[in-house]
Amino acid sequence: MKIIIKKDYDELSREAARIVKEAVQTKPDTVLGLATGSTPIGCYRELIKMHEEEGLDFSQVTSFNLDEYQGLPADHPQSYNYFMYENLFNRVNINPKNIFIPDGMTENVEKFSKEYEEKIKEAGGIDLQILGIGSDGHIGFNEPGTPLDSRTQLVKLAESTIEDNSRFFEKKEDVPRFAITMGPQTIFEAKKILLLASGENKAEAVAKLIEGPITPQITASVLQKHPNTIVILDEKAASKLKKHGRNSF
Ligand code: F6R
Repeated sequence: MKIIIKKDYDELSREAARIVKEAVQTKPDTVLGLATGSTPIGCYRELIKMHEEEGLDFSQVTSFNLDEYQGLPADHPQSYNYFMYENLFNRVNINPKNIFIPDGMTENVEKFSKEYEEKIKEAGGIDLQILGIGSDGHIGFNEPGTPLDSRTQLVKLAESTIEDNSRFFEKKEDVPRFAITMGPQTIFEAKKILLLASGENKAEAVAKLIEGPITPQITASVLQKHPNTIVILDEKAASKLKKHGRNSF
C-alpha cells in the first residue's frame, strides 16, 4: 500500500481527482468503481471542474457503484443512485448506458448480485476503484465479520453504520437496515484501488487498515495484500498511525 498524507480534505480531494484524471486520460474507456458517502464528494467536485474547465472526457468511461440501500428506489433522495447523479453523473459527459449501480428494489437479490458480478467481468474488470472507509473499518458495506472472499450480496448493516449514516436521514429509524454491496473479493480484484479517509473519526479504522492484522473484523485490511492500492489521508485521519508518521512520506 502506498500511503499519501495531505494537509486537509481539500488537498486530499485534489490528489484523488488527479489520480482519476490520469486513469481516464491514459485509458479513455476506463472502468471506474465508485463510492458514495461524504468522503468522495470533494474528489467528484474536482472531476466536474476538470470536465468543465479542461474538457476531461468521460464519454467512454464505464462505472460500477459499490453499493445501494435495499428498499430505496433510484429516485429516493437518500439512495446512492440519486447521490451519484447529483454529485457526479449529471455534471459530466458519462454515457448513462455505461452506469451500473446495484438495484435496491430488486426482487431477486441473489440473481441480481450474480449478474452484477458478470457485468463487471464483461466490462473487463474494474481498472480503478475509489473507496471510503467506515468508522468500523468497512469498505463497501462489508461490515465486521464478512468473509474476505465474499462477493456481491445482500448484507445487514452494523449498528455503528446505521448510527453514522443517520446524519443523512431525518431520523435514525429511516436508515435502511440492509444493503446490496460488492464483496471484499469483488473490490480486491480491481486493478488499482484508491482509498480516501478524512477526519478524526476515521483515524482508528485507518490505523487498523494500515497497521493492524488482516482480518474480517476490519474488511478494509484485505487491501494490505493488494498489489496496487493507494491510501490518501488527511492529517486527522492519519493521526493514529504509529509507524507511518507525517514525515515518512
Ligand atoms: C459508500 C461506501 C461506504 C463509505 C463509508 C464511509 O458507497 O461504500 O463504505 O465509503 O461508509 O462513508 P463516509 O464517506 O460518508 O464517511
